[in-house]
Amino acid sequence: MSDLISRHKEVIAPVIAFDTEVVAERAAGVWVYDSEGRQYADFACGTAVVNLGHNHPAVVEAAHRQIDRFIHSGCIFRYDSLVQAAEMLAELTPPAIEKFGFANSGSEAVEAAVKLTRKVTGRQGLIVFRGGFHGRTMGSVTYTTSNSKYRDGYHPVLGSVFVAPFPHPYRWGMTDEQAVDYCLWDLDMMFRHEVSPHNIAAFLIEPVQGEGGYYPAPPAFLDELRALADQHGIKIIYDEVQTGFGRTAEWFASDLYRAKPDVIALGKGIANGLPLSAYGASAEMMDAWPRGSHGTTFGGNPVAAAAAVAVMNTMGDLLPHARDLSSRAFERLAKLAADHPTIGDVRGLGLMIGIELVSNTETRAQDAAAFAHVQKYCLERNLIIIDCGPDGNVIRYIPALVTTEEQLDWSLDLIDEGLGEYEGRPH
Ligand SMILES: Cc1ncc(COP(=O)(O)O)c(C=O)c1O
Repeated sequence: MSDLISRHKEVIAPVIAFDTEVVAERAAGVWVYDSEGRQYADFACGTAVVNLGHNHPAVVEAAHRQIDRFIHSGCIFRYDSLVQAAEMLAELTPPAIEKFGFANSGSEAVEAAVKLTRKVTGRQGLIVFRGGFHGRTMGSVTYTTSNSKYRDGYHPVLGSVFVAPFPHPYRWGMTDEQAVDYCLWDLDMMFRHEVSPHNIAAFLIEPVQGEGGYYPAPPAFLDELRALADQHGIKIIYDEVQTGFGRTAEWFASDLYRAKPDVIALGKGIANGLPLSAYGASAEMMDAWPRGSHGTTFGGNPVAAAAAVAVMNTMGDLLPHARDLSSRAFERLAKLAADHPTIGDVRGLGLMIGIELVSNTETRAQDAAAFAHVQKYCLERNLIIIDCGPDGNVIRYIPALVTTEEQLDWSLDLIDEGLGEYEGRPH
């Protein structure tokens, strides 16, 4: 074991789970270089963050330039990188989203979005969707139901948060339509039996569930939620912390759906690795939020905001390539699914792809051992992949937008070989 790993284990709280024992010396593009001269392709993208690849030159340059000017404001004085980041977000997010607040993490952005809807509607109830992931602070963990481990031992969580089903057609052995019907029926039951719609401030939903297993919402589901929200004066918050900034090969997953949110929460890829997050809503909603009733010390840090501006100046040119990569990946994965009985389902949008591994295609029994095998096989050959979903059996396939076709093909060859070896038919 390297000296750094043993020192890490001495002093870093083990609750913070690291996926590999790779010790990074430097990183650039898809590559992370370790202290012994090995290089790894990071297809985890720093957990869906460095969508432009590590240390993108435009981001590094913008951050350096800002560091040389000043590093911190703490909401005392005003600065151009913050205003410019908000102006660009207003252009890129759905038209109803006009003003923004900034924070440091996805959890904070989600919590701010929830506070906003509570304050401006005067209602306290929140409806979240089973399998959703919204963070791990005490507020956001209340909204998180992707895995019960996140709440285990932390009860009581916050009150007036109601959990409705999210369509998981593959897991339930249903068509999209059946799954949507079931979810809408259950929501209707919730309104009859648990909470009246006029008590609900907002629906909080990921357009594509991330940690929960990479389930895209069927468009009809979001259409129906939008209709219910409009009927009952409920706001819709899209948590686009993971789906945002090119992950779906569009700026935001919202671009792929007809139903648009009232409030959006952003994080992860927003500054390609510098800690930044944001929440946006209409000017009307934001102006109704009393001055000073929410705030931050570090949120919207000048350096992170400058990095976000660089991300937004750079990413648009890469989206067509991301769409090509996505088609290439889905095409190849369809072939792999036909070839490997272990692949039960391939789903997702753009470059946010889940490959669900099962031990029996009839019962869809989750096969976490298959994932562990493929992950180890890939890591031994310098490819880092991670999982998602509550059962550890879904490959979270999230290449950076700067990945080349050759790198994409190589990664899928390794997954193909690793699965073949697991199934007892080595290449
Ligand atoms: C959809 C979503 N929301 C919120 C969060 C929480 O973000 P953070 O870990 O930055 O607090 C995450 C993190 O994985 C996420 O995927």
